[in-house]
Amino acid sequence: MKLAIFASGNGSNFQAIAEAVEEGEISAEIALLFCDKKDAYVVQRARSMQIPVISFSPKDFESKAMYEAEILHLLEEEQIDLVVLAGYMRIVGPTLLEVFSNRMINIHPSLLPQFPGLSGIRDAFYANVSETGVTIHYVDDGVDTGPIIAQAKVVIEDTDTLDSLEEKIHNVEHKLFPSTLAKLIKTLQGESRS
Ligand code: GRF
Repeated sequence: MKLAIFASGNGSNFQAIAEAVEEGEISAEIALLFCDKKDAYVVQRARSMQIPVISFSPKDFESKAMYEAEILHLLEEEQIDLVVLAGYMRIVGPTLLEVFSNRMINIHPSLLPQFPGLSGIRDAFYANVSETGVTIHYVDDGVDTGPIIAQAKVVIEDTDTLDSLEEKIHNVEHKLFPSTLAKLIKTLQGESRS
């Protein structure tokens, strides 16, 4: 099972997954990290773990379709089975989705369908709800709307600040993402054998 991870920024979820692969908790190979921002910290994390990095920006292309066609070409060349969005801050367009829709998953820092979009943690914090969480879901053509695979709750205490809530959410992400991937990959491997 060959994975491609897409990320745009810090890459703490990328690292949690890569460590779980190294430790044998996820039976897959991370064939590549794709990053749309050359200077993102996730690129350094991947290099220090000897994971191949491919990085280019949509700005290097005439259209989003051409940008995604180039990514698709790479994924097909590497025979990628599953694409994992781990803080990839772009909406995936039809060029990639037509081929990978049931083989592309994303992590979002809220209990979807609540608080989709760019600032799920902040939106939950300022909405004064008593709990939020983390969702892993398949990617479809909406914003954080695809079928849900797994969720974990995080309680918002009266004493929480936005910073402390962010930290709690990220800690949960770093457990839920690897464990969900491990289960999903086992299921997919079972299906391909039967
Ligand atoms: C995470 O909170 C994830 O849920 C969201 O983007 C953030 C990425 O963080 N989609 P990192 O780059 O993995 O540290």
